[in-house]
Amino acid sequence: MCGIVAYKGQKNCYPILINGLKKLEYRGYDSAGVACITEQGKITVTKRSGKVKQLEDVLKKHGMNKKCIGGIAHTRWATHGRPNQINAHPHIDESATIVLVHNGIIENYDPIKKFLKSKKVKFKSETDTEVLVQLIGYFYKKGKLNFEQSVRAALQRVDGAYAIVVLNKDEPDSMIAARKGSPLALGINEKEFFVGSDISPIISHTQQIIYLEDSQMAVIKNDNYEIKSIDKDISLPKIVEKIDYKIDDYDKGKFKFFMHKEIHEQVDTISNSIIGRTTEHNVILNGLLEYWSQIEASDKIFITACGTSWHAGLIGKNLIERFAKVPVHVEYASEFRYNRTLVDNKSVVIAISQSGETADTLAAIKKANDYGAITIGICNVAGSSISRETDCGVFTRCGHEIGVASTKAFTAQISILYLFALKLASSRKQISKSAMTAHLDFSSSLRKVRSVLRKENEIKKIALKYKNASDFLYLGRGLNFPVALEGALKLKEISYIHAEGYPAAEMKHGPIALVDKNMPNVFIVPKDMTYEKIISNIEEIRSRKGKIIIITDSKEKILKDLAHDLIIIPKTNHYMFCVLATIVLQLFAYYIAVGKKLNVDQPRNLAKSVTVE
Ligand code: AGP
Ligand code: GLU
Repeated sequence: MCGIVAYKGQKNCYPILINGLKKLEYRGYDSAGVACITEQGKITVTKRSGKVKQLEDVLKKHGMNKKCIGGIAHTRWATHGRPNQINAHPHIDESATIVLVHNGIIENYDPIKKFLKSKKVKFKSETDTEVLVQLIGYFYKKGKLNFEQSVRAALQRVDGAYAIVVLNKDEPDSMIAARKGSPLALGINEKEFFVGSDISPIISHTQQIIYLEDSQMAVIKNDNYEIKSIDKDISLPKIVEKIDYKIDDYDKGKFKFFMHKEIHEQVDTISNSIIGRTTEHNVILNGLLEYWSQIEASDKIFITACGTSWHAGLIGKNLIERFAKVPVHVEYASEFRYNRTLVDNKSVVIAISQSGETADTLAAIKKANDYGAITIGICNVAGSSISRETDCGVFTRCGHEIGVASTKAFTAQISILYLFALKLASSRKQISKSAMTAHLDFSSSLRKVRSVLRKENEIKKIALKYKNASDFLYLGRGLNFPVALEGALKLKEISYIHAEGYPAAEMKHGPIALVDKNMPNVFIVPKDMTYEKIISNIEEIRSRKGKIIIITDSKEKILKDLAHDLIIIPKTNHYMFCVLATIVLQLFAYYIAVGKKLNVDQPRNLAKSVTVE
C-alpha cells in the first residue's frame, strides 16, 4: 500500500527517487509525487495523479538536475480524499516550511482539522495527511519547539497508523522519518541516507538497513543520525542489519508480467519451502524449536490472515485437523482483532502473511500476544513486522513477490502448513512412521508442478474462450473449497470479472439461481471420497445449461461428457492436488486478464501490502 522513498546525500535526488518509486509500483497506487530541497532551503513539489511515468515526464520537462541535498517521494493509495493531483503527496504546511509524505491513516484528523481551522490554518486538500503536516507546521511556527520537537509533538497527538518522512525549509540538512503501524526502513551508506516503505528502493544503493520499530523515529542531521523514541526524547540503540537480497528478484526476465514469472517460479519456490525441512520420516522446523513443547501440547489452534493468506489458512485447518487431530479455528485478521475470539495462554495462533506487514494481521498478533498465546508467523519477508512480532515462525522462502495478485507465496504457505500439520501429527503420535515417509516423499510430486506449467497453452486457449463472461462460479469441496475461493479471488483481482467460490454442494442453497447458459462454472474435482458427489453437483449445473470447466486428476469418460472444457492434471496426494489445481487457476485468471489487455501486475484499486486497517 502506497510507497515512500526518500534520499539525503550529495547525489542528484531525482533519479534516485523516481527509480525508487518505480521499484515500489508493485504495491499499488493511484498518484505520485516528489519534493526536493536545495542547500538554500528551496523546496520544489511536483505531483501527478496516475502513474510514476507521468510524474517522470513532467520532471524531465522541467529538468531533473537541480542541485538538491534531500528529497522525499510517494505513491499514494487514497484513503481520505479522491485520487487527484491536489490530494497526492507530498503535502506542505500553510507557510510552505514543512513538507511531508505519509503512508497510513490519521484516524483523529477531523478534530485536529477543526482545531487548526479555529487557528485560521487554511487547507488545500481533502486528505488526513495534510492535517498532520499542518499540525507539525503549527507547532513549529509557534516558535517554542524546534523541528524535531514539533514532529514529536504532532505525532504524540495523532491516532492511527503512519510512516512519514519530513523535510524542513529552515533546516535543509535535516530529515526526519517516523513510524507507527506502517513499515519503514532506513538505509545507511557513507554520508548518505535512504528511506523506504520496504527495502526495494534502497537495496541497490546500500545493504546496511535499520528496520524502524513502532514508535521510533530516525533523526538525520548533516552526516549523522540518531534513532529516537516518538514518545520521549531519548536515543535508542541503532540495530543495523546487513541484508543480502538478490537484485534479480526485481527483474521480469523473459516474462511480460511479474505475475507470470512468479507463477512459473513455483517449480523452485515450492521446493525451496520444503528443502532442508524434512528427513525420511521427520519434519524439521527450526524456527519453532524453542516453543515446540508448548505448541505440541496445545489443544486450541487459531489461524488468522487476510485474503489469499486466509485461504491458505483454511487449507491449513483441514490439514492440521486431518493429520494432527487438533481443532483449528480460522478467522480473518480484521475480525479476529475485534471479536471476542476465545484465545488464551494455552492457545497457539498462527498468522500467515506474504508481506509480513498487513495491518490487520499485525493487530491480530498483538492481541494474541496480549492474551499470552504462542504466536507463530508464516511469512515471506524476513525482517517484516509480523516476523518480528511473533514468538516464532517459518519463512516461506519464495523471494520477492511483486505481482499484486499473490501466487507463489500461496503455494509455499500451503507447503509450510502441510509440513506443520505432519510434524504436529507425528509429535502427537497421530501418524505412523510409514505414513510420514510416504507424505514426505516429494520427489515425484514436485515434478508434477512442472508438468502442469507445461499445460499453459491448453489453459490459455480455454481462458480466452471465457474472457467476456461477466460472472463465474468456482466450486470445490474439502481441501479444494479454499482452492475455489482462491481461484475466484485471482480472477476478480486481475480481470475485474465477478467470481465467487463456494463449497460445491452449497451452490444449491442460493448461487444456483445465477446459473444460465452464459455462466461458466469451474469445478475442482479430485478423484477422492467426494468425487461422485461433485459429479452430481456438476449434473445439477449442467441441467441448467451452465458452462462447465473441470480441473481433475481423473480420466473417466463421464467427466469428458459433462465438461465443456476439461483440464487433466497428474495424479498425486491431496495436498499436492491443491497446489496443482491452484496453479491451473492462476494461469486461467492470468490469461483472461491478458486477453482483456489489463495491467496484470497492478490491478486497479489494489495494493500489494495493505498497511492500513
Ligand atoms: C492476494 O492476491 C491479495 N492481493 C491479497 O488478498 C493478500 O493476500 C492479502 O492482502 C494479504 O496479504 P499478506 O499475505 O501480505 O498479509
Ligand atoms: N491517508 C493518506 C491519504 O489518503 C495516505 C494514504 C496512503 O497510505 O497512500 O492521502
